[in-house]
Formats: sequence, C-alpha cells, structure tokens
Amino acid sequence: MRIEITTLPGDGIGPEVTAQAVRVLRVTAERFGHQLEVTEKNIGGAALLTSNDPLPQDTLRASLSSGAVLLGAVGGPAFDAYPPHLRPESGLLRLRKELGVFANLRPALSLRQLESLSPLRAEVVRGTDVLIVRELLGGLYFGDRSIRGEPGGRTAIDTMMYQEGQIERIARMAFELASQRRQHVTSVDKANVLDCSRLWREVVTRVGKDFPQVALSHMYVDAAAMALVSHPTEFDTVLTENMFGDILSDQAGAVVGSLGLLPSASLGGKVGLYEPIHGSAPNLAGQGIANPLGAVLSGAMLLRHSFQLEAEAGAIESAVQEVLAFGHRTRDLGGGENSVSTEGMGDLVSERVITART
Ligand code: IPM
Ligand code: MG
Repeated sequence: MRIEITTLPGDGIGPEVTAQAVRVLRVTAERFGHQLEVTEKNIGGAALLTSNDPLPQDTLRASLSSGAVLLGAVGGPAFDAYPPHLRPESGLLRLRKELGVFANLRPALSLRQLESLSPLRAEVVRGTDVLIVRELLGGLYFGDRSIRGEPGGRTAIDTMMYQEGQIERIARMAFELASQRRQHVTSVDKANVLDCSRLWREVVTRVGKDFPQVALSHMYVDAAAMALVSHPTEFDTVLTENMFGDILSDQAGAVVGSLGLLPSASLGGKVGLYEPIHGSAPNLAGQGIANPLGAVLSGAMLLRHSFQLEAEAGAIESAVQEVLAFGHRTRDLGGGENSVSTEGMGDLVSERVITART
C-alpha cells in the first residue's frame, strides 16, 4: 500500500519528536511491505517566520491532498505578542476546521511499568484506560470573540456556541467507540450552569437511545475532574466539549505518568490529523531530551484510522510497551542520569519494530 502523509513539525520540540515518529513509520512501512511517502510543510510559528501566516496555503493544500497529516506542536513565547489571528495556535485551529476533524480521540492508558510516575498511588492508577472523545470544532474555540472599550476599562468576550448537529455527530462517534470498548460513555458538561451544556445533555441522551448496549452517565465537569484523579479506572469513554476536553486530557496525561506519552487522532473530516497532545515545550526544545512517544503513538493511530493498518499500528504500540518494559526512559519518564535521548528512544522503538515477531 502507498501511505502518503504530510508532516507538519511546527515549533519547539515538534520537529524533534516528529522526526522520530516518521522514522518509526518508515521502518514499520518497510517491515510490512508498504511504501511511505512523506511531504513536510510548515505550520505555526515556523510558518509565521517564513510566510507570515501560521497556516500557509501551500500547507493546507498539501494536507488536504494527502492520506493523513502528522503534526508536531505549535506555539512558543516568541509569538505571545502576535495578534490573535497571527498566533501559531490559530494556524492549528484553522487546520482542524479546514480538515473538518470534529472528533478528537485522546486515549490515556496506564502501563504497569510506569505506575510509579503517576502522582497518584499505584493502586489508584492501576488499570486506568480512558478514551477522551473531545469535540474539536465548536465551543469557545470557534465562537465569536472580541475585546472592546478603552485600556483600563476593556471588556473581553468569548462565545460558547453549539448546534445540535455538532453535538449529535460527536455523540454518535463516542457511542460507536464505546461499543468497541467497555460499553460506557461518561458525558461531561456543566448543565447546572450553561445552556450549551443543557442542549449537550439532551442531545447526548437522545443519541444514546440508539446504543442500548452502551451505558450512559452524565457528570458535571468539576466532579469529573475530581473523579479522574480519585477513581480514574471508573472511566471508559469520556465524551465532552472542546475546552473541557482540552483540560481533562492534560489531566489524564498526568494521571498515567506523563503528558509526553499521549497521542491523539482527529477524525470525522476529509483527512485525519494526528498529533501528540503535549505542546511545543520551548524549555525542552533543541536539547534532544523530549519524549517522542506521544508522536510515535500518534503515528500508530494514523496507520490504524486513516489506512486501516491494524497490525502495523499494533506493532508500533507493542514496540513502545516493550521498550518501556525494558526500563528505557526519557527524562520526563524519570530516566535521571541514564535518560535516553529523543533520538535514542526513536532508535529503540525502531529496532523493536524490526525485530519483533509478527
Ligand atoms: C491541544 C492544545 C491546543 C488546543 C492548542 C495548542 C491550541 O492545547 O491540542 O490540546 O487547545 O486544542
Ligand atoms: Mg491542550
């Protein structure tokens, strides 16, 4: 099979971790007899510096015409003072919108060998296997916004908006995913305060009726944040709106040991978009110490969801687990003085993919 992808390394540690993900994809493709074709383009701050646009036309065109997009990270302190439409993050939001990827899947799995990295006690975190299904094209991220008035007396407005159709399609996706998992959807909202959440709850309940085999519970986001640290194993599939999902998924990263491990897939549109959930981590950039596993595992999700290559995706995931089981650690995983570098981790996973028995 021909696997044509566009990579958008972006800013900070983005290029370093993406390079390792591409290496792992390359050895996996080779091992299984596929042809991998990679086109690299700019996004975010990197694109601002070359073309004064965080999502250049050329990047969008390449993304839309490829089989999948693998993104590193965007943003950094150098761009803090840029006007909102010229911030690196706005390039990513536009890309999500142009691709039409409304469903952001963020799996967080606790691995036995990494339990000690969780700030939670091992017996609390053991067995955690959560899939956060985050709505990605609505809510506060895409509502009208403005800052009005004079300095000293200005008013800032961000609008949270959801249409029934937007809620319905993400709910359907979450129920379908839950049917393949442990048959439980927890829908997270703030229906005691927000109209958006009241509509959310109503629509999710309605969609749930089409999936009688899947249990549905509703939780307020504050209670969900608490439960995620006190009883993380009680969650299976968490369905939530854009900003709540952004917040809860970072929290889930900490719960299972490191944000550096978590991949994501954004689906439902023309082309799938895959990115680690961590940011550009400017403080780690350029030192070869960032953990590339979130990006590597995003590559596995890319093979699974955009190319239906389940065995290939599984080979990458097993290789990552084996490397960790052997005790190899990047700095964020508590490697200390024996930490493996970003590239070293890419080497280890690649070797495992090549030598593993299928
Ligand atoms: C994420 C990130 C992005 C988001 C930022 C970089 C715009 O935090 O993917 O979680 O908020 O969606
Ligand atoms: Mg985030």
